[in-house]
Amino acid sequence: MLDIENLRAGYGAINVLWDVSLSIRKGKLTTIIGPNGAGKTTLLRAIMGLLPVDAGSIALDGTPINGTPTWKMSDARVTMIPEGRMTFRDMSVEENLIMGAFPKAHRSHMPARLAEAYAMFPRLHERRRQLAGSLSGGEAQMLAMARGLMSDPSLLIIDEPSLGLAPLVVNELFEILARLNDGKRTIILVEQNTARAVKVADHVYLMQSGRVALSQAAADVDLEHLHALYFAR
Ligand SMILES: Nc1ncnc2c1ncn2[C@@H]1O[C@H](COP(=O)(O)OP(=O)(O)OP(=O)(O)O)[C@@H](O)[C@H]1O
Ligand SMILES: [Mg+2]
Repeated sequence: MLDIENLRAGYGAINVLWDVSLSIRKGKLTTIIGPNGAGKTTLLRAIMGLLPVDAGSIALDGTPINGTPTWKMSDARVTMIPEGRMTFRDMSVEENLIMGAFPKAHRSHMPARLAEAYAMFPRLHERRRQLAGSLSGGEAQMLAMARGLMSDPSLLIIDEPSLGLAPLVVNELFEILARLNDGKRTIILVEQNTARAVKVADHVYLMQSGRVALSQAAADVDLEHLHALYFAR
Protein backbone atom coordinates (compact mmCIF):
# COMPACT_ATOMS: atom_id res chain seq x y z
CA MET A 1 0.00 0.00 0.00
CA LEU A 2 2.83 2.39 0.92
CA ASP A 3 6.25 1.89 -0.58
CA ILE A 4 9.21 3.94 0.51
CA GLU A 5 12.47 3.56 -1.35
CA ASN A 6 15.88 4.95 -0.46
CA LEU A 7 14.37 7.92 1.31
CA ARG A 8 16.65 10.70 2.43
CA ALA A 9 15.28 13.61 4.42
CA GLY A 10 16.19 15.93 7.23
CA TYR A 11 16.07 19.48 8.45
CA GLY A 12 18.03 21.84 6.21
CA ALA A 13 21.72 20.95 6.40
CA ILE A 14 21.08 18.20 8.96
CA ASN A 15 20.27 14.89 7.32
CA VAL A 16 18.27 12.50 9.52
CA LEU A 17 17.02 9.67 7.30
CA TRP A 18 19.58 7.70 5.26
CA ASP A 19 18.34 5.45 2.45
CA VAL A 20 15.27 4.31 4.35
CA SER A 21 13.21 1.67 2.52
CA LEU A 22 9.97 0.25 3.89
CA SER A 23 6.99 -1.56 2.50
CA ILE A 24 3.70 -1.17 4.34
CA ARG A 25 1.19 -3.88 3.44
CA LYS A 26 -2.52 -3.21 3.04
CA GLY A 27 -4.78 -4.25 5.91
CA LYS A 28 -1.83 -4.94 8.22
CA LEU A 29 -0.40 -3.24 11.29
CA THR A 30 3.24 -2.32 10.84
CA THR A 31 5.14 -1.06 13.84
CA ILE A 32 8.22 1.13 13.61
CA ILE A 33 10.24 1.01 16.78
CA GLY A 34 13.55 2.54 17.75
CA PRO A 35 15.25 4.65 20.40
CA ASN A 36 14.85 8.41 20.88
CA GLY A 37 16.18 10.37 17.95
CA ALA A 38 16.21 7.38 15.55
CA GLY A 39 14.18 9.37 13.03
CA LYS A 40 10.74 7.77 13.48
CA THR A 41 8.78 11.02 13.67
CA THR A 42 10.90 12.48 10.87
CA LEU A 43 9.90 9.54 8.66
CA LEU A 44 6.20 10.08 9.45
CA ARG A 45 6.56 13.80 8.68
CA ALA A 46 8.12 12.98 5.31
CA ILE A 47 5.22 10.61 4.51
CA MET A 48 2.68 13.29 5.43
CA GLY A 49 4.36 15.94 3.28
CA LEU A 50 5.39 17.98 6.31
CA LEU A 51 9.04 17.70 5.34
CA PRO A 52 10.67 17.90 1.90
CA VAL A 53 12.16 14.69 0.56
CA ASP A 54 15.79 15.08 -0.54
CA ALA A 55 16.09 11.78 -2.38
CA GLY A 56 14.17 8.55 -2.88
CA SER A 57 10.48 7.97 -3.35
CA ILE A 58 7.23 7.50 -1.45
CA ALA A 59 4.36 5.82 -3.30
CA LEU A 60 0.81 5.20 -2.10
CA ASP A 61 -0.95 2.38 -3.99
CA GLY A 62 1.63 2.83 -6.74
CA THR A 63 1.19 6.60 -7.09
CA PRO A 64 4.14 8.80 -6.08
CA ILE A 65 3.15 11.16 -3.26
CA ASN A 66 6.47 12.97 -2.73
CA GLY A 67 5.64 16.65 -2.46
CA THR A 68 1.87 16.17 -1.99
CA PRO A 69 0.77 18.92 0.39
CA THR A 70 -0.36 17.68 3.81
CA TRP A 71 -3.90 19.03 3.43
CA LYS A 72 -4.37 16.84 0.36
CA MET A 73 -3.42 13.67 2.24
CA SER A 74 -6.92 13.40 3.69
CA ASP A 75 -8.25 13.06 0.11
CA ALA A 76 -5.94 10.06 -0.14
CA ARG A 77 -7.50 8.85 3.15
CA VAL A 78 -4.23 9.08 5.07
CA THR A 79 -4.51 10.38 8.63
CA MET A 80 -1.78 10.94 11.20
CA ILE A 81 -2.30 11.07 14.94
CA PRO A 82 0.75 13.08 15.94
CA GLU A 83 3.08 12.67 18.91
CA GLY A 84 1.69 14.73 21.79
CA ARG A 85 -1.97 14.27 20.75
CA MET A 86 -2.63 17.85 19.58
CA THR A 87 -6.25 18.06 20.60
CA PHE A 88 -8.01 21.44 20.61
CA ARG A 89 -7.89 22.13 24.35
CA ASP A 90 -10.54 24.87 24.41
CA MET A 91 -13.08 22.82 22.50
CA SER A 92 -15.28 20.08 23.90
CA VAL A 93 -14.62 16.39 23.29
CA GLU A 94 -17.48 16.28 20.78
CA GLU A 95 -16.31 19.40 18.93
CA ASN A 96 -12.85 17.83 18.63
CA LEU A 97 -14.39 14.71 17.13
CA ILE A 98 -16.48 16.74 14.69
CA MET A 99 -13.29 18.50 13.52
CA GLY A 100 -11.96 15.07 12.52
CA ALA A 101 -14.74 14.79 9.93
CA PHE A 102 -14.64 18.46 8.91
CA PRO A 103 -13.25 18.08 5.35
CA LYS A 104 -16.21 18.42 3.00
CA ALA A 105 -16.06 14.85 1.70
CA HIS A 106 -16.64 13.53 5.22
CA ARG A 107 -19.34 15.85 6.55
CA SER A 108 -22.33 13.77 5.48
CA HIS A 109 -20.84 10.74 7.28
CA MET A 110 -20.27 12.70 10.46
CA PRO A 111 -23.26 11.51 12.58
CA ALA A 112 -22.63 7.84 11.80
CA ARG A 113 -18.90 8.16 12.48
CA LEU A 114 -19.59 9.96 15.76
CA ALA A 115 -21.81 7.07 16.85
CA GLU A 116 -19.05 4.59 15.93
CA ALA A 117 -16.47 6.60 17.86
CA TYR A 118 -18.64 6.63 20.97
CA ALA A 119 -19.28 2.90 20.65
CA MET A 120 -15.54 2.24 20.54
CA PHE A 121 -14.66 4.81 23.23
CA PRO A 122 -17.58 4.90 25.72
CA ARG A 123 -15.62 7.15 28.09
CA LEU A 124 -15.54 9.86 25.42
CA HIS A 125 -19.32 9.70 25.23
CA GLU A 126 -19.57 10.26 29.00
CA ARG A 127 -17.23 13.25 28.64
CA ARG A 128 -18.52 14.62 25.35
CA ARG A 129 -19.37 18.06 26.80
CA GLN A 130 -16.09 18.37 28.73
CA LEU A 131 -13.26 20.58 27.42
CA ALA A 132 -10.51 18.52 25.81
CA GLY A 133 -7.92 20.46 27.85
CA SER A 134 -9.32 19.00 31.08
CA LEU A 135 -9.04 15.32 30.05
CA SER A 136 -6.51 12.98 31.63
CA GLY A 137 -3.54 11.91 29.51
CA GLY A 138 -5.18 8.59 28.68
CA GLU A 139 -8.49 10.17 27.76
CA ALA A 140 -6.72 12.75 25.59
CA GLN A 141 -4.94 9.95 23.71
CA MET A 142 -8.26 8.14 23.19
CA LEU A 143 -9.73 11.41 21.89
CA ALA A 144 -6.81 11.86 19.48
CA MET A 145 -7.34 8.30 18.19
CA ALA A 146 -11.11 8.70 17.90
CA ARG A 147 -10.68 12.02 16.07
CA GLY A 148 -8.25 10.37 13.65
CA LEU A 149 -10.82 7.65 12.93
CA MET A 150 -13.55 10.22 12.17
CA SER A 151 -12.22 10.56 8.60
CA ASP A 152 -12.35 6.74 8.17
CA PRO A 153 -8.73 6.59 6.99
CA SER A 154 -7.49 3.70 4.90
CA LEU A 155 -4.00 4.44 6.25
CA LEU A 156 -3.81 5.45 9.90
CA ILE A 157 -0.45 6.61 11.23
CA ILE A 158 -0.02 6.81 15.02
CA ASP A 159 3.07 8.34 16.64
CA GLU A 160 3.90 7.05 20.15
CA PRO A 161 0.39 6.81 21.60
CA SER A 162 1.51 5.21 24.88
CA LEU A 163 3.98 7.96 25.77
CA GLY A 164 3.55 9.12 29.37
CA LEU A 165 0.53 6.94 30.11
CA ALA A 166 0.01 4.82 33.25
CA PRO A 167 0.35 1.01 32.81
CA LEU A 168 -3.39 0.33 33.06
CA VAL A 169 -4.15 2.95 30.41
CA VAL A 170 -1.40 1.51 28.21
CA ASN A 171 -3.14 -1.89 28.46
CA GLU A 172 -6.41 -0.31 27.37
CA LEU A 173 -4.69 1.48 24.50
CA PHE A 174 -3.09 -1.70 23.15
CA GLU A 175 -6.42 -3.51 23.38
CA ILE A 176 -7.91 -0.81 21.17
CA LEU A 177 -4.98 -1.04 18.74
CA ALA A 178 -5.48 -4.80 18.50
CA ARG A 179 -9.17 -4.21 17.76
CA LEU A 180 -8.35 -1.60 15.10
CA ASN A 181 -6.13 -4.16 13.36
CA ASP A 182 -9.14 -5.88 11.82
CA GLY A 183 -7.81 -6.24 8.28
CA LYS A 184 -9.87 -3.29 6.99
CA ARG A 185 -7.38 -0.58 7.89
CA THR A 186 -3.70 -0.22 7.28
CA ILE A 187 -1.92 1.03 10.38
CA ILE A 188 1.58 2.35 11.01
CA LEU A 189 2.31 2.42 14.73
CA VAL A 190 5.43 4.14 16.04
CA GLU A 191 6.23 2.96 19.57
CA GLN A 192 8.99 2.72 22.15
CA ASN A 193 7.07 0.06 24.04
CA THR A 194 8.69 -2.65 21.91
CA ALA A 195 7.25 -5.84 23.46
CA ARG A 196 3.67 -4.54 23.31
CA ALA A 197 4.06 -3.14 19.81
CA VAL A 198 5.48 -6.43 18.46
CA LYS A 199 2.56 -8.29 20.04
CA VAL A 200 -0.14 -6.32 18.17
CA ALA A 201 1.83 -5.93 14.92
CA ASP A 202 2.04 -8.01 11.75
CA HIS A 203 5.40 -6.57 10.69
CA VAL A 204 8.20 -4.86 12.60
CA TYR A 205 10.79 -2.32 11.50
CA LEU A 206 13.54 -1.23 13.84
CA MET A 207 15.10 2.16 13.14
CA GLN A 208 18.50 3.08 14.43
CA SER A 209 20.29 6.39 13.70
CA GLY A 210 18.14 7.18 10.68
CA ARG A 211 18.44 3.76 9.06
CA VAL A 212 16.38 0.57 9.02
CA ALA A 213 18.24 -1.87 11.27
CA LEU A 214 15.73 -4.72 11.07
CA SER A 215 12.67 -5.68 9.03
CA GLN A 216 10.88 -8.83 10.15
CA ALA A 217 7.45 -10.47 10.40
CA ALA A 218 6.23 -9.88 13.97
CA ALA A 219 5.73 -13.63 14.48
CA ASP A 220 9.45 -14.22 13.76
CA VAL A 221 10.78 -11.52 16.09
CA ASP A 222 13.03 -12.67 18.91
CA LEU A 223 12.64 -9.96 21.54
CA GLU A 224 16.09 -10.54 23.03
CA HIS A 225 17.74 -10.10 19.66
CA LEU A 226 15.55 -7.08 18.96
CA HIS A 227 16.52 -5.43 22.25
CA ALA A 228 20.21 -6.11 21.61
CA LEU A 229 19.91 -4.29 18.27
CA TYR A 230 17.77 -1.57 19.85
CA PHE A 231 20.42 -0.67 22.40
CA ALA A 232 23.40 -1.16 20.06
CA ARG A 233 25.24 2.00 19.10
N1 LIG B 1 12.68 20.52 13.61
C1 LIG B 1 13.87 19.95 13.69
N2 LIG B 1 15.01 20.61 13.33
C2 LIG B 1 16.23 20.02 13.40
N3 LIG B 1 16.44 18.76 13.82
C3 LIG B 1 15.36 18.05 14.19
C4 LIG B 1 14.03 18.59 14.15
N4 LIG B 1 13.18 17.64 14.60
C5 LIG B 1 13.93 16.56 14.89
N5 LIG B 1 15.24 16.80 14.64
C6 LIG B 1 16.35 15.85 14.85
O1 LIG B 1 16.14 14.72 14.02
C7 LIG B 1 16.57 13.52 14.70
C8 LIG B 1 15.44 12.52 14.67
O2 LIG B 1 14.34 13.03 15.40
P1 LIG B 1 12.91 12.34 15.43
O3 LIG B 1 11.99 13.25 16.14
O4 LIG B 1 12.56 11.91 14.07
O5 LIG B 1 13.22 11.06 16.32
P2 LIG B 1 12.25 9.97 16.93
O6 LIG B 1 12.77 8.65 16.50
O7 LIG B 1 10.84 10.31 16.61
O8 LIG B 1 12.53 10.14 18.48
P3 LIG B 1 11.53 10.07 19.76
O9 LIG B 1 11.38 8.63 20.07
O10 LIG B 1 12.28 10.80 20.82
O11 LIG B 1 10.24 10.75 19.39
C9 LIG B 1 17.01 13.95 16.09
O12 LIG B 1 18.39 14.00 16.11
C10 LIG B 1 16.39 15.32 16.25
O13 LIG B 1 17.19 16.13 17.08
MG1 LIG C 1 9.22 10.83 17.71
